[in-house]
Amino acid sequence: MSPYAHVVGWGRYVPERVLSNEELAHLVDTSDEWIRARTGIGERRIAGEEESTATMAIRAARQALEMAGVRPAQLDMVIVATITPDYLFPATACAVQDALGARHAGAFDLSAGCSGFVYGLGIGANLIAAGACRNVLVIGSETLSRVMDWSDRSTCVLFGDGAGAVLLQASDVPGGVLSVVLGADGSGGDLLWQPAGGSRHPASHYTVAERMHCLRMKGREVYRFAVQQIPQATREVLERAGIDIRDVALFVPHQANQRIIEAAARTLGVSPDRFYCNLERYGNTSAASIPIALVEALEAGRIQRDDVIVCVGFGAGLTWGAAAIRWSAPLPVAPLSRWASLVYRLRYWQAGARSAGRRLSRWIGARFNGRKSGENGRN
Ligand code: UT7
Repeated sequence: MSPYAHVVGWGRYVPERVLSNEELAHLVDTSDEWIRARTGIGERRIAGEEESTATMAIRAARQALEMAGVRPAQLDMVIVATITPDYLFPATACAVQDALGARHAGAFDLSAGCSGFVYGLGIGANLIAAGACRNVLVIGSETLSRVMDWSDRSTCVLFGDGAGAVLLQASDVPGGVLSVVLGADGSGGDLLWQPAGGSRHPASHYTVAERMHCLRMKGREVYRFAVQQIPQATREVLERAGIDIRDVALFVPHQANQRIIEAAARTLGVSPDRFYCNLERYGNTSAASIPIALVEALEAGRIQRDDVIVCVGFGAGLTWGAAAIRWSAPLPVAPLSRWASLVYRLRYWQAGARSAGRRLSRWIGARFNGRKSGENGRN
């Protein structure tokens, strides 16, 4: 059994379409000045018609696999953290598993709001520590634009779409995910939620008319919760890992609001420069925000080998989570050779063909069996 869970691959994807603050000011009564001053957000990405939480997750996941040189068939588990799955069921993670051709992997979605990716890291690392899995793909992917109330200025200016992924791999070498703290307080469930669409309020004319399928938030309360919870979870996770806060190279917080991040940095007595921030370009992408920020920080050279980093999130639930990671993957990453890239393309093509083949054989089986049972019925 190899108890340590190392991050060996990572990837991110954001849609091409940029929605600026200025454009939003034509939709609702807001302004670029207000949004920037109160949140730090300048623009966000919006998924195209053909895109969804699954398609974005697949793109981020492919990068993570290719970087690590891990074949999809080597995956043991695919976890997709999301509050905007393609469907309530089946899990978006199953669509990802199918598209990748991860034929030996289990797959499930994880609903823990904006803390979802950190929850996924915790579960993935523990599956590895328990010896149940060797390769676990943890993805945060969101298409929040599809659950926005575009007439509500207090929420529609905040959120955006995108996906980020990491591949956790078992190793005997100490390092990787050092400690994880996960928490919840369900009494705050109605502070950030999507009231309809589940079993409590299934879809009806009423729920649609009342926009109950859209995200609703009591921003000020969530703000207060976040400012208190980020420092608390950060301290706790560092204590569990036995790491001094001065030895943390970079904090990768959930990207909800620049003021929240600055307040948390102040409380922790850490310079805000040590908190990675990309809110200006993507807004709040919920469960995708930490992995997107993490991958960007790596690309920008903000993380070096052997650095300790802390990912810390908070969100709907209410939930919170923090993970301390000692970065062990070699950096910078060597680009994939053309040949290796071609081999991966072929694998994905094969996965698509296999999936289509299974659907076809099910269809034929159903028709054949249907006819047989029909004949039996006549006899
Ligand atoms: O991902 C996890 C969850 N989300 C969060 O972490 C969000 C946490 N909360 C926040 O980031 C902040 O509370 C917001 C950015 C949502 C709001 O900022 P705020 O400084 O707390 O503003 P507020 O809600 O106290 O509203 C102040 C004023 C209000 O007007 P009045 O009542 O003072 O006249 C709002 O109606 O700003 C108004 N307002 C806006 N004005 C222009 C609210 N949204 C807008 C807007 N443009 N988009």
